[in-house]
Amino acid sequence: MPQIKKAVIVGASSGIGYEIAKILISKGWSVGIAARRSDKLDELKAIAPDRVKTEFIDVTTADAPANLQSLIDKLCGMDLFFLSSGIGFQNSDLKPDVELNTAITNVEGFIRMTTAAFNYFKVHNGGHLAIISSIAGTKGLGVAPAYSATKRFQNTYIDALEQLSNMQKLGIRFTDIRPGFVQTNLLNDNKHYPLLMLPEKVAQDIVKALEHNKRIAVIDWRYRLLVWGWKLIPRFIWKNLSIKTS
Ligand SMILES: NC(=O)c1ccc[n+]([C@@H]2O[C@H](COP(=O)([O-])OP(=O)(O)OC[C@H]3O[C@@H](n4cnc5c(N)ncnc54)[C@H](OP(=O)(O)O)[C@@H]3O)[C@@H](O)[C@H]2O)c1
Repeated sequence: MPQIKKAVIVGASSGIGYEIAKILISKGWSVGIAARRSDKLDELKAIAPDRVKTEFIDVTTADAPANLQSLIDKLCGMDLFFLSSGIGFQNSDLKPDVELNTAITNVEGFIRMTTAAFNYFKVHNGGHLAIISSIAGTKGLGVAPAYSATKRFQNTYIDALEQLSNMQKLGIRFTDIRPGFVQTNLLNDNKHYPLLMLPEKVAQDIVKALEHNKRIAVIDWRYRLLVWGWKLIPRFIWKNLSIKTS
């Protein structure tokens, strides 16, 4: 009998993480799900109570790695660590609190969780470490400075962890998921977002990318084209563009 695979998803209480958890549960995985809000986690647990374990994790607090370990213990191991927690806001008024809070979750919290997962895999013969960054990390976005910069940070951090893993021959696989606009609570600001994707479909694409061990997955194909052109825009043009949603 094939061994049941074990995944931990942090940020599974809504949006993309929630949908990924649903797919992995339906595929027979054992899944550890975590976030701050428990109602949606309990909903997921009800689907397969024997295979789904829950844990409170706030990535911005120092006890998050211990809580992650507790979740891994409940699952009796972890093959895939998937980090879906993140926040993001448009902040054209450049309110410092908004910028700093974004960095605390998307940088400090991100480091806290990815280092915990990396160090777990280091002593457990490798594993798969996957995160959701965004296409927003491609270049600095004037309407969302902290969001775009923190997403670029995440891209670079995973590049660095991959090199470190190879230097130390740890056998860890990495996937950096970069979606375009997805209809989740993150974009719940009454603005119009073009090329909006459904989280259910995005989660399907993400699971495929994980199954194919994709290193970087821009989702979907329209955004792959967009990012390709976006990267070619020279700075002297980029700095004068007005990119905003209404
Ligand atoms: N929606 C988009 O257009 C889009 C595009 C590209 C990338 N992304 C990225 O995709 C990821 C998932 O976002 P989403 O769109 O699915 O939004 P979402 O529905 O708001 O989900 C965000 C998840 O992150 C969790 N989270 C937030 N702060 C946390 C904290 N301090 N500790 C633990 N968990 C925390 C939330 O759970 P709790 O609040 O219950 O803790 C929730 O489960 C984010 O990294 C986001 O940047 C989204």
